[in-house]
Amino acid sequence: MDREKIFEELSLSGAPKITTTPPGPVSREILEYQSETEGSVVSYPRGMPMAVARGRGATLEDVDGNIYIDLFSGAGVMALGHGHPVVLKAAHEQIDKVTHTLDIPTESRIKMVKTLKSLLPKELTRVFFGGPTGSDAVEQAMKLAKYNTGRDGIIAFEGSYHGMTAGALAATSDSGHRDGVGALMPGVQFIPFPYRYRNPFGCADDMVDEFAADNL
Ligand SMILES: Cc1ncc(COP(=O)(O)O)c(C=O)c1O
Repeated sequence: MDREKIFEELSLSGAPKITTTPPGPVSREILEYQSETEGSVVSYPRGMPMAVARGRGATLEDVDGNIYIDLFSGAGVMALGHGHPVVLKAAHEQIDKVTHTLDIPTESRIKMVKTLKSLLPKELTRVFFGGPTGSDAVEQAMKLAKYNTGRDGIIAFEGSYHGMTAGALAATSDSGHRDGVGALMPGVQFIPFPYRYRNPFGCADDMVDEFAADNL
């Protein structure tokens, strides 16, 4: 199959196509209901006010029939787009067999571990399953580091975002995220990021890395 045909099959036809100025009336109603019933932490609809009906490949249709090119890609986690047939087939094959087994192994779990191990540096001999989110991975990394070193200090960069769970939030520098939730995990130090373009050290730009290392 040629590329154009594949693209066509993996897209909603006519994208991009705006027939109703967004947010259209159906989206507005849903957005209004969401803002009345969900917490103020809901953030993405503020910048992208629409309700989604369906997605295909790199295209999205809102509930008012507008079709967009989805450059957001689910915050970067939908590299193959929405409803890719290969992903759907693999998901179906698993769900049709068994849906959840805690950490009791299945053949597909072991296949995934083998695949990960074949991609990781040889020194990394074990695979830990944290959870599905970035915050889970950060929590897991901090716990593993503490457990294995016996120490409990954490160093994070100024300007860093590590997630919204309690530990990850403690290592997130933006006070806007942290305000109002009381004492967080102690022992986190923030240090300036070695960024030549916005040099935080006031030194010559090509000395930023060395200053950052000294500072650390
Ligand atoms: C660098 C980084 N770490 C952690 C996270 C947290 O990931 P999640 O929102 O999946 O918990 C994000 C999310 O944007 C991130 O960009």
